[in-house]
Amino acid sequence: MIFSEGMLRDGALENKTIIVTGGGTGLGKSMAAYFLRLGANVVICSRKFAVLEETAAELAQITGGKILPVACDVRNTEQIENVIAKSVEVFGRVDGLVNNSAGNFISPTERLSYKAVDTVVDIVLRGTYYFTLALGKYWIDNNIKGTVLNIVTTYATTGSGWVVPSAMAKAGVLTMTKSLAFEWARHGIRLNAIAPGPFPTKGAWDRLFPEELAKKFSFENRIPLARTGEHQELANLAAYLVSDFSAYMTGQVVTLDGGEVLAAGQFNFLKEVTDDQWDAIEDQIKSATRGGKSPE
Ligand code: HXC
Ligand code: NAP
Repeated sequence: MIFSEGMLRDGALENKTIIVTGGGTGLGKSMAAYFLRLGANVVICSRKFAVLEETAAELAQITGGKILPVACDVRNTEQIENVIAKSVEVFGRVDGLVNNSAGNFISPTERLSYKAVDTVVDIVLRGTYYFTLALGKYWIDNNIKGTVLNIVTTYATTGSGWVVPSAMAKAGVLTMTKSLAFEWARHGIRLNAIAPGPFPTKGAWDRLFPEELAKKFSFENRIPLARTGEHQELANLAAYLVSDFSAYMTGQVVTLDGGEVLAAGQFNFLKEVTDDQWDAIEDQIKSATRGGKSPE
C-alpha cells in the first residue's frame, strides 16, 4: 500500500526544529516520527512526562533523529514559554509548531458540568492560541518565517452533536488559522490546518468510539472509501504543510477523511438503489420527460 509509505524526499525537513504538542501518543507521535525521518529536530510536549520520555527514546532509536521531550500543560503560558526556551537552548531556534494536543469525549451536552466544558475548550482552543501567540511573538522578534499546523476536525465546519465543547473549540481554532494567516503573512508566517476523519488511536477510541458503539456503527459502512485512515497518510500531509514545499499555501484547511464529511449530500441516499431499480427508474424518468404527467 503506497499510502502507508513516506511521501517526501529524504532530508525534506533538514535544519528545521518543529514542536508537536501531544507528540507522545497517537497522531502526534506518528507525525513526530515522520518529521524525524525527514531530518527535522522535534520537540514533543504534553502533561505526562513519563509518556513523552518513553516515546522520545523509542523514536530516537527507530529514526536516529534528535527529539526533546518537555513537560507542558498547554493551558499554562509559563510552561509554554519554557518549552520554547528549552527548544531554543537545545536546537538554536524553532521553525514550526503543530497544535495537536486535545481533550475530548462523547456526552449528551446537558449531562456536562461547567468544568467539563471548560476542560475541553481550554485544552483545544486556549492551548492552541496560547502556544501560537507565544511562538508568533518569538518569530516576529527574531525575524523567523515560522509555520503553524493546527489539527482540527471535520465538525469544526459542519458542527456536531455529542461533542459540542470540542466542536466549538475546533471551530475557534479554524477561524484563528484563517484570521492569523492573513495578519501574519506580512511576517512570512504561515498557518494551515488538517481536518482528519477517523484515524484509530487509543486516545480517541477510548473516549469517542467505545467498543459497543464501534460495533454498531461500523466505519466501513459510514465512510465512502470504506476504511479508517492510516497514520502515515496524515503524517505525509502534515510534513508537506510544515515544509517549505507548501510555501505558497496559507490559511487553508485540508480534509483527510475518506469522504466521510460528504454524507450530507442531498441525494446520497441513492447509494442504496440497485442496478435493477436504476433500470426501472431510468425508464420512468425518460417516459415522464417524453410527455408523462409531472407533479404540480
Ligand atoms: C462527562 C466528563 C467525562 C465524561 C470527564 N468529565 N470525562 N463528564 N462525561 N466522559 C468531566 C469530569 O467529571 C470533570 O468535571 C471535568 O470533565 C474534567 O475532568 P478531569 O478528569 O478532571 O480532567 P482531566 O484529568 O484534565 O482530563 C481531561 C479530559 C481527558 C479531556 C477529560 O479525557 C483527557 O485527558 N483527554 C486527553 C486525550 C484526549 O481526549 N484524546 C482524544 C482526542 S480525539 P467535574 O465537574 O465532575 O469536576 C479528538 C478526535 C475528534 O479530539 C474526532 C474523531 C473522529
Ligand atoms: P491522543 O493520542 O489522545 O492525543 C491527544 C494528546 O493531547 C495526548 O498526547 C495528550 O497528552 C495531549 N494533551 C491532552 N491534554 C493536554 C494538555 N492540557 N496539555 C498538553 N497536552 C495535552 O489522540 P489523537 O487521536 O492522537 O488526537 C490527536 C489530534 O488529532 C487531536 O487534536 C484530535 O482532536 C485530532 N483528531 C483526531 C482524530 C482521530 O480519529 N484520531 C480525528 C480528528 C481529529 P497528555 O495526556 O500527556 O497531556
